[in-house]
Amino acid sequence: MGLFVFAAATFLAIFDITSAAVAPTTTLNDGRQIPILALGTYGGNGDKMRQTINWAVEAGYRHIDTASIYENEAAIGQGIADVIARGLVKREDLFVTTKLWNDRHARDQVVPALKESLARLGLDYVDLYLIHFPISSEADGTDSYIDYLETWKGMEDAKKQGLAKSIGVSNFNSQQIKRIIDNSEIPPAVNQIEVHPAHTRERLVANCHSMGVVVMAYSPFGFLVPRESSAAPPPQANDPTLVRIAQKYGKTTNQIVLRYLIERGAIPAPKSTNKDRLKANIDIFDFQLTPEEVATISKFNVNKSIFDYDTQKNHPYYPFTE
Ligand SMILES: NC(=O)c1ccc[n+]([C@@H]2O[C@H](COP(=O)([O-])OP(=O)(O)OC[C@H]3O[C@@H](n4cnc5c(N)ncnc54)[C@H](OP(=O)(O)O)[C@@H]3O)[C@@H](O)[C@H]2O)c1
Ligand SMILES: *[C@@H]1O[C@H](CO)[C@@H](O)[C@H](O)[C@H]1NC(C)=O
Repeated sequence: MGLFVFAAATFLAIFDITSAAVAPTTTLNDGRQIPILALGTYGGNGDKMRQTINWAVEAGYRHIDTASIYENEAAIGQGIADVIARGLVKREDLFVTTKLWNDRHARDQVVPALKESLARLGLDYVDLYLIHFPISSEADGTDSYIDYLETWKGMEDAKKQGLAKSIGVSNFNSQQIKRIIDNSEIPPAVNQIEVHPAHTRERLVANCHSMGVVVMAYSPFGFLVPRESSAAPPPQANDPTLVRIAQKYGKTTNQIVLRYLIERGAIPAPKSTNKDRLKANIDIFDFQLTPEEVATISKFNVNKSIFDYDTQKNHPYYPFTE
């Protein structure tokens, strides 16, 4: 009997390891845990997105990054309902992030906007709610000038009502985050920004960390993948320096870039709706880069954004000044 129990436990342990490696977590400044890899979802929608959530959770993803502006919250919600119904996970095993769009920045618009996101997601709370951008806009997209400190009060309302377990920002610079911290009750837990080898954002990442703010890295592949913007700086996927590091660890250059962000203490949010690439993008927790390799990859930096929103450069809350 004892032996049988031992054998069964060993079998289950082995089965667990071979089924899916779940990403580790780190602790936010509000005490909650956040998985250090997220699934990006921009551009995925409909049944494809729903299927992607099923594949991603099977592959071990527990953190899903969406936004009301992606118009895919309903499909993601269906995927989440599937994986819970299939018994793969419980709601509390998942970490769902969504974002407030620019046209709902007045304090009293924040909780209603979040409730609309929750209805589309089929959830009664999100794990993380982010102000998508410091600049507000009218419904027609033209700039408006609502102070993000007011928006942040609405975010605090959302957290106090339990609708968002954690709250944070996206596309904010250091001074803007410091201004929230200095003038608010609850500090932002996260700043989600573009970080990759061609835009390493060392100073902003360091400033966020010193303020206790966890960094999520969006567009983590940088210019390794095709982008709409014309001039793509190095590195690309076949870059010899990245290839050499990738061969050393038996990984792809895309995996090396994700691991590079992990080493820098950022949470990458790679997007894929392809089953094999989803699996590859989470298969980065069985090796480590050396500090020298991290420094080598950081040398690619040319401060080149994929998204620079330069039509808004003259707005007082334009963030991309560092
Ligand atoms: N807060 C913000 O303002 C903001 C802005 C931009 C993005 N984001 C978030 O960050 C996420 C990621 O950013 P992103 O979508 O711009 O870029 P990304 O994740 O860096 O790149 C996505 C592209 O890479 C391809 N890809 C994925 N895995 C690959 C692999 N292993 N090898 C080769 N190609 C691969 C994808 O195609 P397949 O799907 O065909 O694999 C897709 O074309 C977004 O989805 C979104 O959640 C946030
Ligand atoms: C990138 O920007 C930083 C300031 O944030 C600056 O110190 C650095 O020299 C810039 N690097 C390049 C290659 O332009």
